Amino acid sequence: MKVLGIETSCDETAAAVVEDGRRILSNVVASQVDLHAVFGGVVPEIASRAHQECIDAIVQRALDDAQTSLDEVAGVAVTCRPGLIGALLVGLSYAKGLSLALGLPLVGVDHILAHVYACEMAAPELQYPYLALVVSGGHTSLFRTDGPGNVELLGESLDDAAGEAFDKVASLLGLPYPGGPNVEKLARLGDPSAVDLPIPRCKRPFDFSFAGLKTAVLYKFRGVPGRRAPHVPPAAADLAASFQDAVASTLVRAIRRAVAASGCTQVAVGGGVAANGHLRARLGALREELGITLVFPPLRLCTDNAAMIAGLGYHQLVAGELADLSLDAAPTSRRGA
Ligand code: KG4
Ligand code: ZN
Repeated sequence: MKVLGIETSCDETAAAVVEDGRRILSNVVASQVDLHAVFGGVVPEIASRAHQECIDAIVQRALDDAQTSLDEVAGVAVTCRPGLIGALLVGLSYAKGLSLALGLPLVGVDHILAHVYACEMAAPELQYPYLALVVSGGHTSLFRTDGPGNVELLGESLDDAAGEAFDKVASLLGLPYPGGPNVEKLARLGDPSAVDLPIPRCKRPFDFSFAGLKTAVLYKFRGVPGRRAPHVPPAAADLAASFQDAVASTLVRAIRRAVAASGCTQVAVGGGVAANGHLRARLGALREELGITLVFPPLRLCTDNAAMIAGLGYHQLVAGELADLSLDAAPTSRRGA
């Protein structure tokens, strides 16, 4: 059963065809990163317009790459939450149009649950239950997963997402957008123990907070406002390395606690920040220490894509969780709405 997936929740226009929830026949992603780089972050209006301009061509390419015609498609799965509302509406309207015109079943998919499902697509050996950490520009959430889309939220960021913190720290250090890869590059030249930064604490054991860490980096770099003593900023590379290590420590701590509390011995980590080599090394050390299984999907499934939408959409389609034309876009996940 082939499902067409459509994803436009942020700054990637993506379409994919996936067979039986697993076999990726095509996975096309058009990144808008160059359009937003000059502004140092995603500009919602520009994102919506760019989606509108290319969605038709991207869907067509996904069908062509998969050598599939629309009459072979069993359903259309589209991201309906969470994301930028104008951006989501472009994909949603397009999917509704296809569904209405061709009589195709329509499925609305939660983007974050699809990030979790991407781990299963990449590593079919994962057994339920497993822990999934989704760590990207828009989300930092830790789940226990008991089936496709069947998750329990254990904890999430109470303020900035980890990737957002990387992007803000990058901008502070004068590095271009998107900041994560550039902070990582600079951090390779620095000492992660050089700058004393707080490891953020939250009341609940699996929650995260990155806003205070970001402010601590700001004060280390520019000095504390109002303080008279002369300020000698640390080397930018040391600050980048120390920040990156503090983010990794927060994520490693939550996973360590969740493994102990849940008894799950399999952990999957997805989202753009999962590309970070230092985080991977720290989690690798945790794997050795605890004897757990650790899964990182390949980057094309870690970052925003429509294969994960089509993949999870297949299971919703089979379960009869169909949407109609009243399906609406929402800026938050259902859990937080
Ligand atoms: O999953 P993603 O492509 O998009 C969403 O936000 O959903 O994640 C993008 C985020 C950005 O904040 C980017 O700076 C961060 O992932 N990122 C990284 C790295 N590569 C991408 N953060 C740290 N280290 C990296 N190597
Ligand atoms: Zn995402």
